[in-house]
Amino acid sequence: MSTTLDLFSPVNLGAIALKNRMVMAPLTRNRAGEGGVPQPLNVTYYEQRATAGLIITEATPISAMAHGYPALPGIYTDAQIAGWKKITDAVHAKGGKIVIQLWHVGRISHPSLLPNGALPVAPSAIKPAGQAFTYQGMLDYVEPRALELSELPSLVADYVHASQCALKAGFDGVEIHAANGYLIDQFLRNGSNKRTDSYGGSIENRTRFLLEVTKAVVDAIGADKVGMRLSPVNPFNDMQDSNPQALFNHVASAVSAFKLAYLHVIEGGMGGTAVDFNFDELRKHFKGAYIANLAFDKVRGNAVIASGHADAIAFGVPFIANPDLVERFRIDAPLNTPDSKSFYGGNEKGYTDYPFLGA
Ligand code: PHB
Repeated sequence: MSTTLDLFSPVNLGAIALKNRMVMAPLTRNRAGEGGVPQPLNVTYYEQRATAGLIITEATPISAMAHGYPALPGIYTDAQIAGWKKITDAVHAKGGKIVIQLWHVGRISHPSLLPNGALPVAPSAIKPAGQAFTYQGMLDYVEPRALELSELPSLVADYVHASQCALKAGFDGVEIHAANGYLIDQFLRNGSNKRTDSYGGSIENRTRFLLEVTKAVVDAIGADKVGMRLSPVNPFNDMQDSNPQALFNHVASAVSAFKLAYLHVIEGGMGGTAVDFNFDELRKHFKGAYIANLAFDKVRGNAVIASGHADAIAFGVPFIANPDLVERFRIDAPLNTPDSKSFYGGNEKGYTDYPFLGA
């Protein structure tokens, strides 16, 4: 009998016991109902994928001001909690585990998506290049309003409130979204953070907001139920940093002290951008469990688990197109072809109608 670990070996991520190491990555699908309330169709989608060792939900706004795309679910009202509870119950009934990704988009939004046409908020008033996906179609991003120091505690409180809502909704934990050019990442990287107060400038200062959010969420629900996602070199959403290795080595060390359930890292740029970054070095700065993500397949996933670099692998697009991805990997069955036109928005087509093996 071999003792080599692979994608099919069980593992504990903090308090969360996974039956295998195949994690469903967070995937924006824009199919929530009115008021950001999850619908029966969303229950079917997640339930179909419950054989994953862990499901990380789509990125989910923590407040009305945290929205940046149409038809997102939220995790801050009683109706949203009730909607999610049907999802967590369905996943648990199938023997799965599920955490919710806590999201504030910061400047990646548009007044038409925000209460009373508010300006998006960000660490600094810097308009990102590109366009927002709105109910009126693609619209240029606007210059966001720079957050006042006095506003930051209420943002931290929104993360805490959302975490408490998540536990009420039956989630096994939460993932703090600190990646991909959204609010927390906008504080971390110096392309989007030009603040001259204690939240800008040095690496320590730029990491401050992340650590305040993390401490507050950990104090509220327990570190063993809190994961975090980072994307040190992803240029997505007009992001850059002058020294990502130094910044994210520091971030990994600092969050390691909280003894989180896991750290989840996008190991490159979405869209295949070539980058100069040492992810093994980053990984050494974090003492807990580590989930690697970015275009892995079975062979490479097994290899990085066997090597000890990662404890689990997050798969995105393969889980969109293959609800039974775990079984397909187990028996080396062919995979369904993903339809990218139905990734964002729509109905059951391209969402809950991908066939299972033998169907
Ligand atoms: C997206 O909707 O394109 C999206 C959302 C969250 C991410 C990345 C991309 O972290």
